[in-house]
Amino acid sequence: MEFKGHVDFRACGQAAFRRAAEGQLVVECRRRPEIGYFDPLSITFESCSEWKKTDCGYMLDGMKVLILGMDGYLGWPLALKLAKLGCRVYGIDNMLRRRLVAERGAQSVTEIRTMQERVAAAKEHLGVDIEFREMDLLDREALFAYIREIRPESIVQFAEIPSAPYSMADVDKAVNTIQNNVVGTLGLLFGVRDHAPEASIIKLGTMGEYGSPLTGRPLFEGLFPGDAVLQYQGQEWSLGGELTPRDPVSFYHVSKVQGTFSVYEACKYWWLRSYDVMQGVIYGNWSDELQAHPDLNTRFDIDEWWGTVVNRFVAQAAIGMPLTIYGSGNQTRGYITLRDAMQCITRLIAAPPDPGQYDVVNQVTDVFSVMQIAQMVATIGKEFGLDVEVQRIENPRVESEEHPYEVIHEKLQDRFGFASESGFADEVRHLFRVMLQPENRDRILAQRAALFPRTRWSGEHGEMKVLERWKPAA
Ligand SMILES: NC(=O)c1ccc[n+]([C@@H]2O[C@H](COP(=O)([O-])OP(=O)(O)OC[C@H]3O[C@@H](n4cnc5c(N)ncnc54)[C@H](O)[C@@H]3O)[C@@H](O)[C@H]2O)c1
Repeated sequence: MEFKGHVDFRACGQAAFRRAAEGQLVVECRRRPEIGYFDPLSITFESCSEWKKTDCGYMLDGMKVLILGMDGYLGWPLALKLAKLGCRVYGIDNMLRRRLVAERGAQSVTEIRTMQERVAAAKEHLGVDIEFREMDLLDREALFAYIREIRPESIVQFAEIPSAPYSMADVDKAVNTIQNNVVGTLGLLFGVRDHAPEASIIKLGTMGEYGSPLTGRPLFEGLFPGDAVLQYQGQEWSLGGELTPRDPVSFYHVSKVQGTFSVYEACKYWWLRSYDVMQGVIYGNWSDELQAHPDLNTRFDIDEWWGTVVNRFVAQAAIGMPLTIYGSGNQTRGYITLRDAMQCITRLIAAPPDPGQYDVVNQVTDVFSVMQIAQMVATIGKEFGLDVEVQRIENPRVESEEHPYEVIHEKLQDRFGFASESGFADEVRHLFRVMLQPENRDRILAQRAALFPRTRWSGEHGEMKVLERWKPAA
């Protein structure tokens, strides 16, 4: 986004409005009250000492960002990107993801270091300081003390259990998911209210909150547009600005919907400010910062619980295992690369919402069916000498396999200046190069059994039947 005019003091987060002796409204900078008062209409981003221009638009200089879930697939690359942009980056994690992946008999394909080693590697290879504390988001006493101590200007909420199949595996895992995600976010909101009310909250939701409406109703960005109307029995009502219907597709997604409502309400009750990010399925493991050294790797999971579809397909192709398509393969979803997702989140951090503002963005660049993805991975696999096989297996999930899917995803481009920097083919080529490295191939082979699904939404047990197998033509 190109800001040309005045600093929007409401969005700045650092502006405290005061009434001057002469009666006019003035602004005091919370960060540096010693620099005096400003006329709200006279200062620009260019002239404000606290803002600087970055690749992701104007951003508070040395912005304090707290990343919850910093050890995760997205948390770590975001920490590196923000630190390189000059932010002061803080993070917590309770290392839950590492434990749960091991519980499934799986492991990250790319070797990852401990958080202490990662932080040291970030210093050595990128010259940046990142502060990490091992902490459970549910330990509210510790969390609130930490928020009080650092007074973050932005908080990114990644610290959740992000797996649909895990949440459907048994009652303990369903309860664990709901409790961890719902209670974690709720507690955080009280902590922000009481200890850093001016911080913007970037909350990660998922496109799966919307489901895939059979009517073909477009998936608007969280809220109905101003001209949406409901017609019923000859009457019309405006729906503009109301939250759009949610139709979650697993208990994990139910937890995300509850998170959406918690954040929505907190903005309303307490004037907190938040962007709720309906994120598409992420794939890839490339970012400028991650490439600096293998000790900076982010995790890369491929098993039935923790892997996402593109990542798993490339790994399966790399070891000669047929790609596992569930059901018809016509299930269609929104996707985005890790690199693009990091750019989007950074832009949202840089341009915070107004106090009391709750807004939603759909963070998606492409829409594919699972069948299309299998076809594209098989085609690119040929460039690496692989003769990729595909299999359709019984669908372990309860979901529609034939449905329209129209996603509206305009705000990130139009309002925040997002421009995609990576595409499917290049990202998948990069992934093949990584997956085919002998040590990584060995780590995939070691968890081969975990790549085939065995968690059914119905609760029944037993292997999924293979329905069909073939080799796609190029
Ligand atoms: N990866 C995707 O494709 C995708 C798609 C849509 C939405 N999302 C959302 O993005 C967010 C991040 O996803 P991810 O792929 O990086 O997941 P991840 O599991 O790799 O990262 C989450 C991190 O949070 C930590 N964590 C979980 N509960 C915690 C707690 N109570 N206290 C402290 N730390 C805790 C985990 O240990 C993990 O390191 C999640 O909210 C997820 O729902 C991810």
